[in-house]
Amino acid sequence: IKTIGVLTSGGDAPGMNATIRSVVRTAIARGLRVMGVRKGYNGLIHGDIFELNSRSVSDTIQRGGTILQTARCPEFITEEGQKKGAQICKVFGIDGLIVIGGDGSFQGAEKLANLGINTIGIPGTIDLDIACTDYTIGFDTAVNTAMEAINKIRDTSTSHERCSIVEVMGRNAGYIALWCGITNGAEMVLIPEKERPSDEEIIREILQNKQRGKKHFLIIVAEGVGGSQELAVKIEKVTGIETRATILGYLQRGGSPSAVDRLHASMMGALAVDLLCEGKSNRVIAYKDGQYVDYDINEALKMTKTVDERMYEVAKTLSI
Ligand code: F6P
Repeated sequence: IKTIGVLTSGGDAPGMNATIRSVVRTAIARGLRVMGVRKGYNGLIHGDIFELNSRSVSDTIQRGGTILQTARCPEFITEEGQKKGAQICKVFGIDGLIVIGGDGSFQGAEKLANLGINTIGIPGTIDLDIACTDYTIGFDTAVNTAMEAINKIRDTSTSHERCSIVEVMGRNAGYIALWCGITNGAEMVLIPEKERPSDEEIIREILQNKQRGKKHFLIIVAEGVGGSQELAVKIEKVTGIETRATILGYLQRGGSPSAVDRLHASMMGALAVDLLCEGKSNRVIAYKDGQYVDYDINEALKMTKTVDERMYEVAKTLSI
């Protein structure tokens, strides 16, 4: 391996820059050239590629977003797009490519590996929805951002004795919602991994909660469950309790990465380069039981995981 490329793909996540920085500096320390690919696989297909040096990543460890920018690229799902990508890698002399993103991005990396480009995936998404790993870069920052925002909603919710519904991101996974449910002390958490209580059950809980002397009712809804606005209207209509829905949205994806994200980013970025130097390909990096490990991408994509039952139970118990 002489030259490696690095790209970020899919939704951005805090800590992606810290990952790029680690990849670039580790590679340079190992005597490799590094090429940055702009806008994910889209940039790869169009040859939007430039050389990076140690200074290119100065002053980036603390920045949210991704300096390489990112995109979702439908063209890369096609065989033609993938061949084009592999061809461009050859034109630029890229013999190893590090892909920072989620499952969709790793599928692309697997295709490139089959076409002779050594690839390594690094899990970068706020959703924590990559089965092979206990941690995905961006999650900690996103949860903290959501938690801070929900603290503020909680203040005003208590003052007005309202019911507040807050919808958080996570695509089809409920990790952000469950973590916020516990750390914000929510009265209820709705996540896609668990059967949704009926509207009637939710309303009964709200009324019982009021009888217990609580001054607000906070419901965290995962994006994968949705329907926050409609639920708010129904609750207010049936109970007479003022109810407001807030969809936190993209503020959860931005911001300076937390220490946890910077650390995982730095460790995973360095490991990805080392794996390429060892001649490995078609691997994805994971943090498993406190260790940084790597898996075959095909195997990793077949794995499944779900939210921690105990966490869900504790969230319920502490809401009384
Ligand atoms: O994967 C990160 C994420 O923010 C999800 O939580 C959300 O479902 C999705 O990306 C939104 O994607 P887009 O940026 O394409 O709207």
